[in-house]
Amino acid sequence: MAESSQKAFITGWPVTHSRSPLIHGHWLAQHRLDGSYEKQGVEVAGLADLFDAVRRGEWLGGNVTLPHKEAAFALVDEVHEPAKRLGAVNTVWHAGGRLHGTNTDGLGFLANLDERSAGWDAAPKHNRGALVLGAGGAARAIIVALQDRGFAPVFIANRTVEKAKQLAVEFGAPCKAISLEDSCEVAKNIAFMVNTTSVGMDGKSAPINLDAFPQDCLINDIIYSPLETPLLADARKRAMPVVDGLGMLLHQAVPGFEHWFGVRPSVTEDLRSLILCDLGATP
Ligand code: ATR
Repeated sequence: MAESSQKAFITGWPVTHSRSPLIHGHWLAQHRLDGSYEKQGVEVAGLADLFDAVRRGEWLGGNVTLPHKEAAFALVDEVHEPAKRLGAVNTVWHAGGRLHGTNTDGLGFLANLDERSAGWDAAPKHNRGALVLGAGGAARAIIVALQDRGFAPVFIANRTVEKAKQLAVEFGAPCKAISLEDSCEVAKNIAFMVNTTSVGMDGKSAPINLDAFPQDCLINDIIYSPLETPLLADARKRAMPVVDGLGMLLHQAVPGFEHWFGVRPSVTEDLRSLILCDLGATP
């Protein structure tokens, strides 16, 4: 049994379906560390108490998931980039008597693509631009990550165009808001497209028709259950390059584990297979 000071958590409301305990449990066992990673479901009113327990050293830190990422941003003592730009924190840790927070969603998104499609962001592709479907929390982290890698323009297409417009204003110059219908018009030159909407989780519907996209456009979905979404299946049929969303989940977990347990863990095929089995998919 781990000492109380060797514990990390995932909090949110609810946290029942989180795969994070499986990921961190795998790394703890792999590195033979006497630590633990536990679900701590709390409603937003309980978040400050949980964070105080981290400040007292009862926890090493933890992950914060929906719907608490914005509340966590307001409660930590030190906010690190890119959480500052996003206004949302998904990883907290205790250091020097203060509670630190960052956001690793964008890093996980980029590391997944770097690993599974090396060169996806090579310079000539920047100027062809990227298209982000959706304007929720995940889209925000991804838009900032794409900007950081030099993509311009970054089109943001959302069912509720007003939300896409708000993001374009907030994140500035390379971002352009469009409707989902108009996304087919900008598609012909796009080098990279990612789905951040929930469309496809049912395994039946795709968020966009790929007819207008160039054959070499990389198609990415951040949904990982099902792993092969209808969007990815369609892209694969057209022989377009595809990257699924599981790696984003795995890579976004790396910095937290390193902060808490002092070891930088690796995202391996073994870990991927473990999560795929849990999802009921064939590795
Ligand atoms: P997250 O924080 O995980 O990104 P979210 O904030 O709930 O999740 O965002 C979900 C995204 O999926 C939104 O962009 C939403 O579009 P709206 O802003 O118009 O609600 C998009 N979405 C959900 N269901 C959709 C549907 N049936 N068709 C198109 N977009 C959909």
